[in-house]
Amino acid sequence: MTKIKTQKLDFSASGIIAKKRDGKKLTHEEIRWFIDSLTSGDIADYQMSALLMAIYLNGLDKKETASLTDAMLYSGEVVQFEGNDVIDKHSTGGVGDKASFILAPIAAACGVKVPMIAGRGLGHTGGTIDKVESIKGFKTSLTLKEFKNRLNKDGLVLIGQTKTIAPADKKIYALRDVTATVESIPLITASIMSKKLAEGASGIVMDIKTGSGAFMSNMKDAKALAKSLRDTASRFDKRMLTMITDMNQPLGNAIGNSLEIIESIETLKGNGPKDLTDLSVQLAGGMIYLAGKAKTLKEGNAKAQAAIDNGSALKKFKEMIKKQGGDDKVVEDYTRLPVAKEKLEVLATKSGYVSKVECKNMGLHCVSLGGGRKKAEDAVDFGVGLIINKKIGDTVKKGESLVTIYYHAKQKNLVGKIAAEIIANDVTISKTKATTPKSLVYEIKENK
Ligand code: URA
Repeated sequence: MTKIKTQKLDFSASGIIAKKRDGKKLTHEEIRWFIDSLTSGDIADYQMSALLMAIYLNGLDKKETASLTDAMLYSGEVVQFEGNDVIDKHSTGGVGDKASFILAPIAAACGVKVPMIAGRGLGHTGGTIDKVESIKGFKTSLTLKEFKNRLNKDGLVLIGQTKTIAPADKKIYALRDVTATVESIPLITASIMSKKLAEGASGIVMDIKTGSGAFMSNMKDAKALAKSLRDTASRFDKRMLTMITDMNQPLGNAIGNSLEIIESIETLKGNGPKDLTDLSVQLAGGMIYLAGKAKTLKEGNAKAQAAIDNGSALKKFKEMIKKQGGDDKVVEDYTRLPVAKEKLEVLATKSGYVSKVECKNMGLHCVSLGGGRKKAEDAVDFGVGLIINKKIGDTVKKGESLVTIYYHAKQKNLVGKIAAEIIANDVTISKTKATTPKSLVYEIKENK
């Protein structure tokens, strides 16, 4: 895909909307003109919203999806890096998903260059940038020039979305949020890919979550999104590995900003929960393989595990904190993180096996304590959160702790309500043991 000039072209917004409304295909130039006009302010939000609904209802084919991605990508700055070993990872979002903090230093320790531009939390899912900002001093707003320099020097950099990366996506995403047009595979594809392509990575590992806590609640939709992402990556000559992974319960045990940083550090020290460790190793293994630092995925996974075992990944994480102005002593001393002082244990009211942990609700409890945002402009509380002590398949005895809630003294009433909801709705205890997947990774595909 190349940037084409469309200033001389003269389309009408209502003509393009009508074409898609009637199920016809849009040309590259029409899509480009529409998005350019949105970015320059010549298309009104209501016109963009109408086109979004027409796309939601009638879809886009592969070519149109690539054209939309291209138009959104070139609505802002595009970074370019030399070489084929610049690999990023993106997750479609989940509860307790802190895998980026583990896989990025692992991959970097294995010689992969990792340029991460991550998001903030919205809705029931947390955001990587909010979590890392719980480390005092950590700077997430570098300029693109600083971002490039850090990557070339250190091989690992983590920043938040900049205003200049795919600004059209920012406008479109805000409109989708309020016009019931989020769950559209071509729109999700163009949104994710425009941002990822703008970062300049040569390859991307895509973690597509499926299950009760994910955007794509079933395997069929997850597979369709995976294929759409691979097809679009191929059109832009990027290598992509898609992994469809389980999100029927929170990943690991911790939900909440500081709590998730602690769990990530523990995982880098080799003491992490099995599900989080395995998933992080497989995603990092995929990055190592795409970067050409391993001949097979199996070899990539072995190298990733070795980077945990020999301490090089932890060292890289500590180095990244320091280079980005953060307090790197948190790695040895968790009291330097602002974890809330009060704790409430939610106790099991009967014995049995845990058969369900309501993923989305657990994320929402963290949000209601202040650990996430209800509105985009809300401030985030780094200290509050939940530790899920019992996960699906675990045995539990009456009186044992299912969940520990971290809160502030002034939230006593709220925390009581959350505990009651967890008992009544969110954790189900059954007489028979539920089967759990052997691996959280259901499908791996490459766009070769
Ligand atoms: N993540 C994005 O960046 N965009 C979407 O549309 C969905 C998930």
